[in-house]
Amino acid sequence: MDGGVPRVRMRGISKRYGTIQTLDDVSLDLMPGEVLGLVGDNGAGKSTLSKVLSGAVVPDAGTIEIDGRAVAFASPAEARAQHVEMVYQDLSLCDTVDVAGNLFLGREPRRRVLGIPFLDKPRMRADAAAMLTSLGISVPDITVQVENLSGGQRQSIAIGRAASFDPKVLIMDEPTAALAVAEVEAVLELIRTVSARGVSVILITHRLQDLFLVCDRLQVMYEGRAIAQRSIVDTDIEEVVDLIVGRKFTARSAGHARPAGHARSAETARPARSDRPSDSPGASPP
Ligand SMILES: Nc1ncnc2c1ncn2[C@@H]1O[C@H](COP(=O)(O)OP(=O)(O)OP(=O)(O)O)[C@@H](O)[C@H]1O
Ligand SMILES: [Mg+2]
Repeated sequence: MDGGVPRVRMRGISKRYGTIQTLDDVSLDLMPGEVLGLVGDNGAGKSTLSKVLSGAVVPDAGTIEIDGRAVAFASPAEARAQHVEMVYQDLSLCDTVDVAGNLFLGREPRRRVLGIPFLDKPRMRADAAAMLTSLGISVPDITVQVENLSGGQRQSIAIGRAASFDPKVLIMDEPTAALAVAEVEAVLELIRTVSARGVSVILITHRLQDLFLVCDRLQVMYEGRAIAQRSIVDTDIEEVVDLIVGRKFTARSAGHARPAGHARSAETARPARSDRPSDSPGASPP
């Protein structure tokens, strides 16, 4: 991080569901134009943390600042008003509506004929085509219903829709999980395109190789806590895996001094939560 005002600054975020402390005193920083990979095992709290930022989940405690100003979101609409957009795991597209209709869902351009508002389909299609072209997204035909598109095309439409709200922050929850190789490439390219425009991106993914293609930094969640962050140039897949599964000592933190023949299993016992490392954002990596 360059020391400027973060686009997003989350501190002390906690959320409990029944007996599960889903988020426990989590911090997160995100700089303008930065791509942050948010990783962690199933149930680590990644989706919940990003839903707090997108207004879909109200935390029990903690603060959020956007560009240095304190905000509190009670709904996704309030987050959208502050230019925070999230593409959810289930995409929330409308299958029986065409591509252009999905891009403008809920804010379709209208024109009045004899005082009666009609959907302005020609304008909607022209605007949709321009929007997709500017993001480098190609679909065969914007009048096709989205149920007939491939997984990658649907993902692109969902991201395109989010990008069209002029976000400062774009959160993507596992956008490449179900995609074929070429489709993954297209989505990663889209992430590069929006971040190059200054949009800050949070990418949640289990595809660790993707992190190294688009992310500037990553943050690791473990059982509801943010336990480590790394600049992408200062880490590798092996260390990230170690952090995700909760190995207490990694090859890197041990100065690459793992002795030949040293059984990894000796390091793999999951520590009790109380002895987890706890790097807060801003802390220098070990
Ligand atoms: N609405 C809810 N009610 C009850 N428990 C919840 C709710 N939302 C999340 N949880 C619990 O909180 C924990 C964290 O869930 P979350 O979805 O944030 O994990 P995740 O890191 O996104 O996992 P995954 O990689 O599997 O998507 C899980 O144990 C989950 O069951
Ligand atoms: Mg999730």
